[in-house]
Amino acid sequence: MENYKLFLFTLSSAAVVGILAIIFVLRWVLHFQPGLGWNGGLAEFNWHPVLNVCGFIILQGLAIIVYRLPWSWKRSKLTMKIIHASVNLVAFIFAVVATVAVFDFHHVAKIPDMYSLHSWVGLAALILYCLQLVLGVGLYLMPFTPISWRAAFMPVHVYSGLLIFTSVIAVALMGITEKLIFSLTNPKYKDSPPEAIFVNILGLFLVVFGALILWIATRQSWKRPSEQTLHSLNSNGGDEDGTKVSQLSEGTEAEAFETIRQRNNKCDDQVN
Ligand code: HEM
Repeated sequence: MENYKLFLFTLSSAAVVGILAIIFVLRWVLHFQPGLGWNGGLAEFNWHPVLNVCGFIILQGLAIIVYRLPWSWKRSKLTMKIIHASVNLVAFIFAVVATVAVFDFHHVAKIPDMYSLHSWVGLAALILYCLQLVLGVGLYLMPFTPISWRAAFMPVHVYSGLLIFTSVIAVALMGITEKLIFSLTNPKYKDSPPEAIFVNILGLFLVVFGALILWIATRQSWKRPSEQTLHSLNSNGGDEDGTKVSQLSEGTEAEAFETIRQRNNKCDDQVN
C-alpha cells in the first residue's frame, strides 16, 4: 500500500475521534440531560442523538472504509461485501430506532412532526440509506445480477454512499444546535454554559470524523487491489494453497501489491 504510514495515521485519528464522539454523546445525555429510558419523555428522546451518532455516523463511516483496510485484503471480496452490508444494516437499524424514539417523544409531548429542516433532511437521508442498502444487496450480493449492471451502477453507489454520509453529519449538526437552543434556557445557548461548549466540541468531532473517513474513502492508492491483482500475487509466487499473501512481510507485500496493481490496471475490483 502506498503511504502506509499516512493511512495508519489517518485511520487511527478517525478511530480516536469516533470513540471520543461516542463518549461525548453518552456523557451529554447521561450527565447534562436526564439519561436514557423508554418512557415517552426526554430520556426516550435521548436515544435519538445517541443511536444516530453511534450508528448512523460512526458505524456508517466504518462500513464505508472496510474495503480499505489492508488486513482485510486477504479475505475474499464476497466476505468483505457481506461485512460491508452487515455493518450498514446495523447502522440502519440504529437510525430507525433513533427515529422511532423522537417520533414517539413528539407524540407523547404533542409536539408537531417534521416541521424543521433538520427533520426533512434527516428523514430524506434515512429513506435514501434504505434504498442504498436494498439496491446494494440486490446488485452486489445476488449472484444472478449481471456484471454489466453492477459496473454501470457502481459510480452511483459510491457517490450516493458518500453523499448520504456527508448529509447525515450535516443533519446531526443541525439537530445538535436545535437541541441546545431548545434545552438551554437559563443560562441560554448564547451565554456559552459548559453544556453548550461540551456539545459544540461533539459537533467538531463529528466534522473531523467525517473529513477523515471521506479522505480515506477517496484515495485511489488506498483502494483494495483488484481480484485479478490478488490472484496474480497468489499465483506468481504463492504456495499451492495460496497462502503466500498472508506470509509476505509487510514491506514486501505492499511492494508486490503495488507492482502488480500497476501491471493489471483494471477496474474489475469494483464490480465482482
Ligand atoms: C444524525 C442523524 C439524524 C437524523 C437522520 C435525524 C432525523 C430526525 C428526524 C426525522 C426528526 C423528526 C422527528 C419528528 O418530526 O417527529 C428529528 C427530530 C429531532 N432531532 Fe434529529 N436526527 C439526527 C441526529 C440528531 C442529533 C445528533 C440531534 C441532537 C440532539 C438531533 C436532535 C433532534 C431534535 C431536537 C428533534 C426535534 C425537533 C425537530 O423535529 O427538528 N437529531 N431528527
